[in-house]
Amino acid sequence: MARIPPGFIEELLTRIDIVEVIDKRVPLKKHGHEFAACCPFHNEKTPSFYVSPAKQFYHCFGCGVHGTAIGFLMDYEHMEFPDAVRELASIAGVEVPEEQGGAQEKASSNAPLYDVLDKAARFYREQLKTATAAIDYLKQRGLTGEIAGQFGIGYVPAGWDNLLKQFDGKDGTNRQLLTAGMLIRKDDGRYHDRFRERIMFPIRDNRGRIIAFGGRVLGKDEPKYLNSPETPLFHKGRELYGLYEARQTLRNISRLMVVEGYMDVVALHQHGVAYAVATLGTATTADHLQRLFRVAPEVVFCFDGDRAGRSAAWRALENALPEAREGRQIMFLFLPDGEDPDTLVRKEGKEAFEARLKQATPLSRFLTESLVAQTDLGSAEGRARLVELARPHLNRVPAGVFHDMLKDEIARLAQVDSGKLTMLNQAAPSRAATQAGRHDSRPLLTSPVRKAIALLLHRPQLAALAGVPESLGSVTLKGAEVLKELVEFAQSHPHINGAGLLEHWRDTDTGATLMKLAQAELVTPPEAMESEFTAVMADLTGRRPAERRRDELIAESRRRALDPAEKAELSRLLVVQNGPDSTARDTKTD
Ligand code: UTP
Ligand code: MN
Repeated sequence: MARIPPGFIEELLTRIDIVEVIDKRVPLKKHGHEFAACCPFHNEKTPSFYVSPAKQFYHCFGCGVHGTAIGFLMDYEHMEFPDAVRELASIAGVEVPEEQGGAQEKASSNAPLYDVLDKAARFYREQLKTATAAIDYLKQRGLTGEIAGQFGIGYVPAGWDNLLKQFDGKDGTNRQLLTAGMLIRKDDGRYHDRFRERIMFPIRDNRGRIIAFGGRVLGKDEPKYLNSPETPLFHKGRELYGLYEARQTLRNISRLMVVEGYMDVVALHQHGVAYAVATLGTATTADHLQRLFRVAPEVVFCFDGDRAGRSAAWRALENALPEAREGRQIMFLFLPDGEDPDTLVRKEGKEAFEARLKQATPLSRFLTESLVAQTDLGSAEGRARLVELARPHLNRVPAGVFHDMLKDEIARLAQVDSGKLTMLNQAAPSRAATQAGRHDSRPLLTSPVRKAIALLLHRPQLAALAGVPESLGSVTLKGAEVLKELVEFAQSHPHINGAGLLEHWRDTDTGATLMKLAQAELVTPPEAMESEFTAVMADLTGRRPAERRRDELIAESRRRALDPAEKAELSRLLVVQNGPDSTARDTKTD
């Protein structure tokens, strides 16, 4: 893909409104000059997520996430940088101009990793064509060639260097393969293939790029499935096998079903249940759930009916509680003992399988029934114990209609007045509260440099008042370089906003400093910003030449006697040096 030319992003950010972008995904409420909501990136009951229309910047005082509209889309929608830019461009109704011949997108230092994985997948698919044992195995499991093609299923024969040999053997390439999880490095520094003699299932991200593999043995070897390790591209606790394929197949997805295995996903898709996805050998995480609910309002967890299935379901329930709320449906489907979705859907077909969904257990019922099973509702002690058991779970469900309904149900079962259960909310401090205590480390604007930067991020047009940036050249305070760059850039881009400045320096040290200062609380009211900025800049640029002059005079006085005017000047300068806020100037920027 071509590179997005410089300047476009800064311009784009002046055409969209971050409040609108976020509000569509996370409804915001006006709060003073800003907008607030419960943070979509952590579980909380009182809003600590703020969006500033002035800075075009969001910040959560609870968990510390922050960024521009681009950053929000990247985090919230799991988009890559160029996709987030394209999404905003489409909102603004502009085309993303692409510079031909430019480097690959700048966010993607991972580009070579995608390339080696893609090449590996092609190699595995090619190998499958001639591997009769593997083809027989897949046929015997009922897979059609069509579905194997759709999922890009391949095969790697026995041997230590089948994949290794496909590449040029150069050190750089081998290191990429290693980083991508495809090789193992031995003590003597040599490499060999991680995956050997296995059916290979490529794992794709949102955009269909291959980010990892799962490999199944043909026979009875251990482990049955070998997965790629965690890599820069692959985070097990986040990815869902089959989600990309589901989105390819279905236009509108109203329900997603989470199953346990690769083969379950493939078999279900093959039989027309294309909304099936799998976690990759891990329990369902909150991350998974957030991704699922971004796609569909209903999530069904499908588990074996045996003990292991029950306890996996309970783990899923615990992780799902923070994501449970009105408008989202979470169901649990338990299959007959000894069956998994793969065997079942092959046996009974799509219709019978989907009919089972009507008997799925809603989260609320699964929770209450499991708790009730541990207590004796016939006694007061038992009912009190139910309240006790329910408390931690209820506390994890965000406040709202669903929370209240659960509470009422527990109260009904325990035969206590629901009003008496309001203490359930207060029994434990909410996670948001504890997180707020831990994370709210907004930087303080303790130095004039910091103050000036923070003002510029609010209103870059102030830069026009700063005069020539060179006047800052003599300022040696920490952060002065950043300020100078900022002034210069803002002066040459008179329409830019704070978000544009932040994006201009994305992924640089300067950008990190700016991001930090964008979160600082600026108490200056809008009408006083100009005068404050002018004062701070005068402070910065006025003082240092004075100090230089002072040092000059001191040096001079060692060589010759100063004349009376010079002496008067020096004593004036020495007083300034020891003035009341001379220490403030040496405060570091971070
Ligand atoms: P299962 O052991 O239930 O196997 O693992 P399965 O999905 O029914 O596989 P088949 O039908 O025998 O081929 C469920 C999932 O757990 C993970 C895999 O994601 C697998 O699909 N798993 C299992 C591993 O990661 N490693 C293993 O060794 C086994
Ligand atoms: Mn199975």
